[in-house]
Amino acid sequence: METLANLRSAFKDQLSSSYDEEEIRQLFQLLCLEYLQIPKIQIPLRLHEHILEPQLKIMLEALQELTQGKPIQHILGKAPFYGMDFRVNEHTLIPRPETEELVDLILKQHSTKIPLKLIDIGTGSGCIAISLKKHLAHSQLIAVDISADAIAVAKDNAKSLGADVEFRCLDILEWDLTLWNEQFDVIVSNPPYITQQEKLNMHRNVLDFEPDSALFVEDEHPLLFYDVISSFAQQQLKRNGILYFEVNQYLAEETKVLLLKKGFQHVEVIQDINHAARMIKAWDLML
Ligand SMILES: C[S@@+](CC[C@H](N)C(=O)[O-])C[C@H]1O[C@@H](n2cnc3c(N)ncnc32)[C@H](O)[C@@H]1O
Repeated sequence: METLANLRSAFKDQLSSSYDEEEIRQLFQLLCLEYLQIPKIQIPLRLHEHILEPQLKIMLEALQELTQGKPIQHILGKAPFYGMDFRVNEHTLIPRPETEELVDLILKQHSTKIPLKLIDIGTGSGCIAISLKKHLAHSQLIAVDISADAIAVAKDNAKSLGADVEFRCLDILEWDLTLWNEQFDVIVSNPPYITQQEKLNMHRNVLDFEPDSALFVEDEHPLLFYDVISSFAQQQLKRNGILYFEVNQYLAEETKVLLLKKGFQHVEVIQDINHAARMIKAWDLML
């Protein structure tokens, strides 16, 4: 029978070629908590404990999946975002910490008391729309995505997290084929923005396990979604409405220029916690 110490050694041995020591420690801690109900501070005190066969099997299966590059969020079937756990799978992007900062930016700007109408374009797991709705209870949230599979996960998340969000499956690149009889106070999007060139440097657990359609754009037109969504905003954003984007840090200035050309009088590039130009806020649209 195996002890927790043996298991920890197996994690170190088998994952050292893909992850650094700190990452391995965190992965082991997450799995111990989820499958063995051992919190991280107790791990050093319980290393001598024997692990029961069924639990050992689950831990070893998780280890095997990690060696194949499967993201820990897919193994656990959930990812933390803005203080909640979101169900994720191969059809949804794993919510990233940078995107929490985008939610924060919006919540700092808008009062919780005034009912607003907001739309999240490319909702994926629903993390942005659901987090906003949880904090802007009086507001109406609409979330759209091209992927019916992602919408199904997002709906599930909205239900289990108790957020009333309206989901629509549609291709935003063809937004003008739909009749929109509503105007929005806030349009937010974290669209696909990684170029094929950047893809070459990415880790295999992103490339093999996250949906291409959520991440990548063609090198020839890296701002395609920003271009189309700002045209959508020209039609559907209220006079005093605000457009928020998560952006490719290497293309933030180009995105700003695009938005100024579209008629926004104010365009602000905002840095994330790592000082990367990660968010854009645009307002005062002159048509
Ligand atoms: C970068 S992911 C963002 C997911 C989620 N909002 C988040 O921040 O974690 C982009 C999302 O846009 C969706 N998407 C891609 N092309 C689209 C299109 N043409 N119309 C609508 N949604 C699209 C993808 O399915 C994906 O869920």
